[in-house]
Amino acid sequence: MISSPDLYCVMGHPVAHSRSPDIHARFAALTGQTLRYERRLIALDGFADGVRAFVAEGGRGCNVTVPFKFEAPALAAECSPRAQLAGAANTLVFRPDGSIFADNTDGLGLVADITRNAGVALQGARVLLVGAGGAAAGVLGPLLQAGPAHITVANRTLAKAQALVASHGALASLQKSELLALTPQALEANFDVIINATASSMAGAEVPVPASVLRPGALAYDMMYGPAAAGFLDWARAHGAVPRDGLGMLVEQAAEAFALWRGVRPPSAQVLQELQQQAA
Ligand code: ATR
Repeated sequence: MISSPDLYCVMGHPVAHSRSPDIHARFAALTGQTLRYERRLIALDGFADGVRAFVAEGGRGCNVTVPFKFEAPALAAECSPRAQLAGAANTLVFRPDGSIFADNTDGLGLVADITRNAGVALQGARVLLVGAGGAAAGVLGPLLQAGPAHITVANRTLAKAQALVASHGALASLQKSELLALTPQALEANFDVIINATASSMAGAEVPVPASVLRPGALAYDMMYGPAAAGFLDWARAHGAVPRDGLGMLVEQAAEAFALWRGVRPPSAQVLQELQQQAA
C-alpha cells in the first residue's frame, strides 16, 4: 500500500503571499522527508473551524499567520511557555491522541537569524525593540532569553509598550536584563541592535524612531522582508547602520516548526542563502 505524504499547511488571511510552502518543500527535499505543505485561506471568523477541518482531513500540523496567531493558543490542550508568554502561537502540532500543542517559533527564528546568520551577539547587548503589537509580543521572550544587558520597548502608544514590559518583567529579572518601556521621543542613542516590529514601513509611514538611536555599525533589523522592509532598511543604511530584513527570521522560524513536526533539523542557513540569491 502506498501511503500519502504527511500533510501540513499555513493558515492565514491573506495567505497567497506566504513563502512557507516553498521553504518547507525545500527543507523536506534536503532532509529526505516526505510531506505536502499547502496554503489555506481561512475566513476571518473561521479559524477554529478551519483548524478542525484540517485535522479531519488528516493534517499533522499547521503554521498560523496574520491575523490568527492570537486565536491559536485557545485551541490547544498544551502551549509552550513561550507561546503562553506571547499570548500567541504560530505553530500547531496535531498529536496522535487528537490533542493540539501550540508553540511560537517567531522569537527563536529572530534570535537564530541575528546570532547565527548575521553573527551579531545578543548576549550583553543593548537592544531597542520598536513596536508593541503582536509581532513584538511574539519575540520579546526569546530576545530576553538570549541574555541582553538591556531591552527598551518603544511604541507610539506608550501604554502598549508598558503592558508588554510588565508581562515580561519576571523573565527579565530572571535573566538579569534591564527592560524598559519608552515613547520614541524619549529614546536616547546607544543601541547595538534595533529591531523594527511595527507595520510602519508597510503603511508607507515614516520610521517611527529618531535616527539618533542608530550608531555606526549597529544592526538595524526589520522583521518584514521584501518591499515592506525597504523604507526602514534604506533609513538604516543612510545613517551608517547595518541593515537586515526578516527573510532569515522567516526561514529560521520555519526550521523550528519543521524540527518540531518532523524531529529533524533542516539546513536553514543553506535555504536562506538560496532565497537570498533568488531575491538578488
Ligand atoms: P502586528 O501583529 O503586526 O504587530 P499590531 O498588533 O497592529 O500588528 O501592531 C502594530 C505595531 O506597529 C504597533 O506597535 C503600532 O503602534 P501602536 O501600538 O501605537 O498602534 C505600530 N505602528 C503601526 N503603524 C505605525 C506608524 N505609522 N507609526 C508608528 N507605529 C506604528
